[in-house]
Amino acid sequence: MQNYFYNMRIIGTGSALPKFVATNQMLSEVMDTSDEWISTRTGIKRRHLLVNQELEEIGVEAIENALKDAGITAKDLDYIICSNTVNEYITPGLGCVLQGHIGATCPSIDINAACAGFLYGMQIAESFIKTGVAKKILIVAAEEPSRIPTWTDRSTSVLFGDGAGAVVVSAEGDDVLAMRSTTTSAPIVLYSKRAMEKTPFVGEIEGNVPLVMNGREVFRMAVSNSQDDIKAVMEDANITSNQVKYFVLHQANIRIIEAIRHFLDEPEEKFPTTIENTGNMSSACIPILLDRLNKEGKLSKNDILVFSAFGAGFQTSACVVRWNK
Ligand code: ACO
Repeated sequence: MQNYFYNMRIIGTGSALPKFVATNQMLSEVMDTSDEWISTRTGIKRRHLLVNQELEEIGVEAIENALKDAGITAKDLDYIICSNTVNEYITPGLGCVLQGHIGATCPSIDINAACAGFLYGMQIAESFIKTGVAKKILIVAAEEPSRIPTWTDRSTSVLFGDGAGAVVVSAEGDDVLAMRSTTTSAPIVLYSKRAMEKTPFVGEIEGNVPLVMNGREVFRMAVSNSQDDIKAVMEDANITSNQVKYFVLHQANIRIIEAIRHFLDEPEEKFPTTIENTGNMSSACIPILLDRLNKEGKLSKNDILVFSAFGAGFQTSACVVRWNK
């Protein structure tokens, strides 16, 4: 068992989804695909997309829900950690934009660890708390991955949806039991490049490559890394699977979740999902799923939750949390 003690408690959750919903049937009217192909390969039936709505708007809504659930105001925050893969600004960071909208006065920092970004944010927050940098931290994952692939590529564009999830964590608690993050540099498996402007010395606009994905390799790396991470954090936390209430996994694809579940030999009811109705919302998946469980009254004091996320990089992160709010 590890000798490290974590000082952190989740004290509030929030989430928000865009108003516009695109069903598989709607996609089949604009590209060569079908509800049958998308449902059976991915588990996705519909996704919320930002159409005539800004990412900032749902980011603020998710944050305000989380602050309300935590019983604090934006002025009480000591730090904002914002997980984001793409948004309309290159600079400033999205966390900085959101800080102004909610009326907070604390520092903010953006991180990009793709789909694992929210759990990386949790680990950074715990370090800030441990070292006395902050006592109350907002971790917000606001994501618009629907704008990363080209919608002429049916194999990637159907996978994503947009959304925002947030949690407030506090120094008053010791309810994180284990954390682990990994990076295996393999950009070729899943990447996208933004356009880089011309200069007097570079004659062409460079980059601008919509999402490129080796789907089979992503599948293999996700399943293998996630089960390793889950086993490692459970061992570090000294818990057995019968103590775990829910495995809260990144919602990339139902077949990835099912494969991980089979390897762990766990029952379906321990793997809650949103994927059917949301698609893959990158790092926003886990806080949105957690907020659902919280608001639907599915969590009780002392429940043990195991989180696992995996994505481009290849970057993964997992943690074990005792629910205590
Ligand atoms: N509709 C209809 N047909 C399609 C579609 C579509 N939307 N997309 C691809 N196809 C076709 C292909 O063109 C191909 O046709 P062909 O055999 O005539 O060439 C056929 O379906 C099979 O394509 P494959 O790519 O081999 O399909 P596969 O069975 O591997 O499934 C999938 C693809 C679902 C992407 C799978 O590889 C997978 O689940 N990978 C994991 C990737 C993932 O979930 N990424 C999410 C983002 S990353 C993350 O969050 C970790």
